Amino acid sequence: MTTTPLLMIPGPTPVAPGVLAALAEPVRSHTGPENAATMIRIQEGIRRLVGSAGARVHCFAGAGTLAMEAAIVNHAAPGDRVVVVSHGYFGDRFTEIAGALGMRPDVLQVEWGQRADQDALRGLLENGNPPALVCFTHVDTSSGVLADCAATAATVRAAATDAVIVLDGVCATGGIEEAMDDWDVDVLLTGAQKALSVPPGLALLAISARARSRRSALGDIRAYYADLHRWDASVDDPRKYFSTHSVSLLRALEASLEAIFAEGLPERYERHRRVAAMIRDGMGELGFEPLTDPAALAPTLSVLALPDGADDARLRAGMAERGVVIAGCLGPWAGRGVRIGHMGTVTEAQAARTIDAAAAVLGAHA
Ligand SMILES: Cc1ncc(COP(=O)(O)O)c(C=O)c1O
Repeated sequence: MTTTPLLMIPGPTPVAPGVLAALAEPVRSHTGPENAATMIRIQEGIRRLVGSAGARVHCFAGAGTLAMEAAIVNHAAPGDRVVVVSHGYFGDRFTEIAGALGMRPDVLQVEWGQRADQDALRGLLENGNPPALVCFTHVDTSSGVLADCAATAATVRAAATDAVIVLDGVCATGGIEEAMDDWDVDVLLTGAQKALSVPPGLALLAISARARSRRSALGDIRAYYADLHRWDASVDDPRKYFSTHSVSLLRALEASLEAIFAEGLPERYERHRRVAAMIRDGMGELGFEPLTDPAALAPTLSVLALPDGADDARLRAGMAERGVVIAGCLGPWAGRGVRIGHMGTVTEAQAARTIDAAAAVLGAHA
């Protein structure tokens, strides 16, 4: 008998049977009334998750990186200053995209595992032209750092009133509270494959009124599929065509959102915190310690240093043989530790299975 491998990487995450069943439904017309109703429910659900009453929600085929690119190309022009607060590999991606689009990235490079210092951010913002955009990441999946979104957005707003604030929620949305309106964030982007518990393939963006007027002021931009203006009519009336929707993935996201709201948001976020604590306690007993500053630990994943003498590749291969898949570290931490995702549908029982698999491998090599 074979058991389904348990995916404890920080995305993609396990997908519930009800969501997989939605994926297997007959394909619908992308401009028909059923798909339009699904899209409207997705827009409402995403607004609830990101904490916005009035954001315009875009959802199209593509990965999280497409949502990042759309967030940048629609709200700044070549030559504009783009301030990036980078907590790791995915913060750096904002810098790369802005550079590739001919903008002038200006980076607050935070030491891996630490949270951005607000005074340093204020200094960067005030030193130079006002930035068109400020980008940061809610949870950087490489360093495990949970940003202080309220403080970061407040620092930006105080120093650069007109900046469009872009927040990457790829490793956060659906697993932790987000409050786009209260924080005064303008673009909250995310993907389907992490705490939303849907297979990869959807790019999502919630866009504020400030960001929409920035987009209008820019006129023509160097993008076509990623040009949010070209999508606007089909966002407002999803029976209108711009480009063919990934109808089956939309159904899966609709089904997952139903399950998310049926669980209840406070209950879901609390479960994430419980499972995170369980993973850290259990792995801690085996000698794994967070590489991330304790003050910045995210509830959606743990980035853990290996115990003395343990080998990254051997540990992960041994766990995979026992049916549990975890990830290695990236960048400067590659080889030093492992990353365990605990977001989406992940339960205490699955956390226990993960800890048991690690214990069994370490025991086998002791
Ligand atoms: C925080 C964060 N942002 C952006 C991305 C990029 O998303 P994708 O791999 O779907 O392009 C990822 C992917 O893991 C991520 O973790």
